[in-house]
This record gives sequence, C-alpha cells and structure tokens, in this order.
Amino acid sequence: MDKDAGRQDDRFISPESRDEDRALDYTLRPRHLSEFIGRDKIKESLNVFIAAAKMRAEPLDHVLLYGPPGLGKTTLALIIANEMDVGLRSTSGPAIERPGDLAAILTNLEPNSVLFIDEIHRLNRAVEEILYPAMEDFQLDLVIGKGPSARTLKLDLPKFTLIGATTRAGLITSPLRGRFGIVHNFEFYDVDNLKTIVARSAGILGVNISSEGAYEIAGRSRGTPRIANRVLRRVRDYAMVRADGAIDRDVAQQGLEMLEIDESGLDDADRRLLLAIIEKFDGGPVGVETIAASISEERDTIEDVHEPYLIQSGFLNRTPRGRIATRLAYDHLGIIPKNKGQQELL
Ligand SMILES: Nc1ncnc2c1ncn2[C@@H]1O[C@H](COP(=O)(O)OP(=O)(O)OP(=O)(O)O)[C@@H](O)[C@H]1O
Ligand SMILES: [Mg+2]
Repeated sequence: MDKDAGRQDDRFISPESRDEDRALDYTLRPRHLSEFIGRDKIKESLNVFIAAAKMRAEPLDHVLLYGPPGLGKTTLALIIANEMDVGLRSTSGPAIERPGDLAAILTNLEPNSVLFIDEIHRLNRAVEEILYPAMEDFQLDLVIGKGPSARTLKLDLPKFTLIGATTRAGLITSPLRGRFGIVHNFEFYDVDNLKTIVARSAGILGVNISSEGAYEIAGRSRGTPRIANRVLRRVRDYAMVRADGAIDRDVAQQGLEMLEIDESGLDDADRRLLLAIIEKFDGGPVGVETIAASISEERDTIEDVHEPYLIQSGFLNRTPRGRIATRLAYDHLGIIPKNKGQQELL
C-alpha cells in the first residue's frame, strides 16, 4: 500500500492535479491566443469568430472542446473569455446536481459572458434538458405546479457562450452535441510544438535549457503539454542537484531516466499495463475491467489516460473482443512472442 502510494505520487501522467501542479498550470497557462502553441486551425477560426462576435456585440457561438487530459481544453476556454473581454463562470458536470442549480447559474450570468462546464459528459439528463432551450434561444423553460394544472413559464436569459469540455466525446448525447456551433477535437501535440511549449515554460520559470534538452523532454512527454511541463520541473530539480542547473541533452536524458520515463514516453504504469496483457493474458484480447483489476488501476484512468497514447503510438489495439498488445509492444519490452496464438496475432 505504501509502495503504491509512493508510486502514485511520482506519476506524471495522472490527470488529477495536486496543489503544486495546479500552481504550475496556473503560472504556465497562456492567456492569449497568440501564446497558445500549435492548434493553428482552431486559432485561426477563433480569431475570426471572436472578432466578428465583438463587432456585432454578441456572444461567441457555443464551443465544445474534447480530447485527452492535459492538452489545453481549460486553457483555451479561459483564453476565449479573455479575448472576448468577458467574464467567465466555471463549473463542472457533476457539480450541477439539479435543474434548479443550472437555472440559478444561467439567470445570474452577465450578458455575453462565458459559462464553462468541464466534464460536460457527466451532466444528468434533467439538467441537460434545461440546457437545450437555454443554448438555442437563451430561454429557460420553468415548470410551475404539478399534475394537470402544471404549466410552463418561459423566462428570458442573458445571452451567453457555453464552452463545454470533455475527455469523452463519445458520451455526449447527440442533441447536446448538435447545439454547439464550434467543435474542436484536441489531438496529441507533435514534438516540434511540444518543444516550443517546453522552451516557453522554461523561459517563464527561468530555467536554462538548450534546444536539444527541450527536444529530449518534448519527445518523451506523450504529446501532452501538461506532462511536458511536469517533466520540465522535475528535470530542472535534477539539473540543480546533479549538474550545474542547466538542462542540455545529457542532463535531460539522465533526468528522464531517473524518472523512469522511457524513450517512447511510457512510464512505469504504461509498461505494467502492456506487460500484464502479454504475460497474464497471452497478449489479449482481454477486457479493460480485467486489466484494471490485474494491475490495480481504475478503469477510467486506463481509458482516459493510458490508452489514448498507447493506441495512438501503436502499442495497443482496441477491438470489440478486448485489448491486444501489438508487435511494437513486444519489441519495446524486449519480449519474444511465445505461443502460436500470440504469433498469429502479430
Ligand atoms: N497549446 C498550448 N500552449 C502552451 N501551453 C499549453 C497549451 N496547451 C496546454 N498547455 C499547458 O498545459 C497545461 C494543461 O492544460 P489544460 O489544463 O488546459 O488541459 P485540459 O485539456 O483542460 O486537461 P483536463 O482534461 O485534465 O482538464 C496548461 O496549464 C498549460 O500550461
Ligand atoms: Mg481542464
């Protein structure tokens, strides 16, 4: 148990942020579209939509942002409110328990401001239904009374922009999804963009880092800015204690090695996951629940955090019958496929 707790604490890819992470996220978070690295297409369209909305003195269209944790969804929501020059009210799907909670939030919004709902896939049905007319016509449908004498009252709401964020686009109902005018799918960042993010963060933190050092960290941060920033901070500690404080390629490599992040950016938990599939379940296919139980991880953590990157980098396949370790996974872990079944799969 203690050992597990220690391991958990050292994790880079965990979506839960600790206090120090939140402080880091806050310090390093870009505040303007021009500081937001990569994502050129969405930046370009947002620039146009924001300028047009401002010229018309209207709110921006509703925005849905989805993709794996740490890729900049919350950051972009804050930037949009900032660029629109309007206030932002922030809440999350699970925090809005009853329709009345949402009604209270909506009636109190400042005109044209942004309502940010994180984890929007976790809104319950009754709450979601309040949202439809609110998004579409800026109206609240209130039901007064019960039974045959019940009647609905329509209430005008201030105009607003809803920005929804989710790691699970698949769990958003289609009526909700259809009410967003701007939809952006966040994919993992390429190494060049991540390198720029590492260099920018190093500048803000006052860390001396070479181009090769930044590249090394970028290449092992699984396409995720939040992880790149966390790794940078840890490698900076390593550089201060074991070197002269500056991060060049060698220092970066040594620091990453100490953190047990391998050349592909996989951490200890990723490797245990692949190893479990290969050694305990013959390479798969095996269900995600079974994997979760066998490595003592939450199913959600596996699906939200580990799998997207393992699948995208070709270590894992998701099939209707379960997860399968790929040839690349065997090679990466230095394991030779043993039985005939495994060889046929490869
Ligand atoms: N495009 C970017 N340019 C520069 N920094 C970025 C970019 N995207 C994200 N970051 C950095 O990564 C950190 C994490 O991003 P953010 O909190 O927006 O992720 P998220 O997608 O909301 O994650 P989650 O799903 O866990 O809520 C930010 O604090 C910011 O410093
Ligand atoms: Mg977020």
